[in-house]
Amino acid sequence: MHILEIIDKKKKGRSLTQEEIYYVVNGYTQGKIPDYQISALLMAIYFKGMNEEETRMLTMAMVESGDQIDLSSIKGVKVDKHSTGGVGDKVSLIVIPLVASLGIPVAKMSGRGLGHTGGTIDKLESIDGFNISLTMEKFIDNVNQYGMAIVGQTGDLTPADKKLYALRDVTATVDSVPLIASSIMSKKIASGSDAIVLDVKVGNGAFMKTLEEARVLAQAMVSIGKGLGRNTVAVLTNMNEPLGREVGNANEVREAIAALKGEGSEDLINVSVTIASYMAVLGKAFDSLEDAKKAILENIADGSALTKLETLVKIQGGNPDQILHPETLPTAAISVPVISEKDGYVHEIRAQEIGTAAMLLGAGRETKEDIIDYAAGISLEKKVGDKVSKGDILCTLLTNRENYQDAYDKALDAYEVNEEEAEIIPFILDVIS
Ligand code: URA
Repeated sequence: MHILEIIDKKKKGRSLTQEEIYYVVNGYTQGKIPDYQISALLMAIYFKGMNEEETRMLTMAMVESGDQIDLSSIKGVKVDKHSTGGVGDKVSLIVIPLVASLGIPVAKMSGRGLGHTGGTIDKLESIDGFNISLTMEKFIDNVNQYGMAIVGQTGDLTPADKKLYALRDVTATVDSVPLIASSIMSKKIASGSDAIVLDVKVGNGAFMKTLEEARVLAQAMVSIGKGLGRNTVAVLTNMNEPLGREVGNANEVREAIAALKGEGSEDLINVSVTIASYMAVLGKAFDSLEDAKKAILENIADGSALTKLETLVKIQGGNPDQILHPETLPTAAISVPVISEKDGYVHEIRAQEIGTAAMLLGAGRETKEDIIDYAAGISLEKKVGDKVSKGDILCTLLTNRENYQDAYDKALDAYEVNEEEAEIIPFILDVIS
């Protein structure tokens, strides 16, 4: 077998065999095939695509390139959840305690944020003492004992994906459906859960800008999951504005606490309850989505979901008093209102620009080494559909940095305000199962 023949075969639009796919993935991970040849192959895949079987084999080859987490010692059906990346996306903070409050084990592995999107781990670390570096034994123990645990990505999971993703990033081959689908699913499969709910974001702030594109990606991921024995559902959700009203870290935790009390933004509660309901059905705790939703709303109303968050914080070394008193979470010294310069209706809040503005205020990282200011972020006063008058506050910048002008300009620019009333797009756009 030779890499040149494999590149040539894909260039001509032919399907690769399992042997060829493993040869490429293993050869590249072990440094035996150089970047320039894999770059050429990635570009051939970008243009010629991969069929379902090839995409599934590519996923498995990446899973088998590194460690795989064994969750078999956790009783019950383990359901994972993954978001394709949004701004203001604190859904994991809400669904972990929600799903655990139904008695379904949640063993969650999450990432940090980079660039304009935030990460669940960073948000949790805004709570004093919260420890995301659990050993695998402690992680599994906590799930068995308390029904939930969360860790940062540990071990040598999918090293092939890490290398391939870095190369895709510099060869303009990120936005290829088989490559995105296999990359995301390889990490989910390697982290060991039995079933997966995918939150596929759609809109200007997401990878997939249109519903049609998002459906194709969702279908590819569901097909990989099912083909590999993991019951998988994809919920397509709106990202034409940030989710909820808070973008940052500590302020997002405060918003998640409010949502667990049933308070706050309708879009955030709706998306979180929907994702949690699918997790509950896939976790085999309920036969119907309606029953799952009813139980979830009950656990919000009677406070048991919020108590679960308190427990999660306590068992991971954090200060649970901050959940009861969210005002004690970090707050910024400076708050700057961003003022509308015209009258009209909010049509769009470009999530990517809000995310970038939040990063400039200290809430995110431009490079992996940057240190996050947990107090920094943006609070959205106006959401899509709201009427605004010149002089109204659109959003408020929260920061400890004196130099916030670039962030101010970006946040103002993110708001699309037009004269005519805005069309309201549903929060849940489709479900692929
Ligand atoms: N997220 C991933 O993990 N991989 C991709 O290819 C795109 C988004």
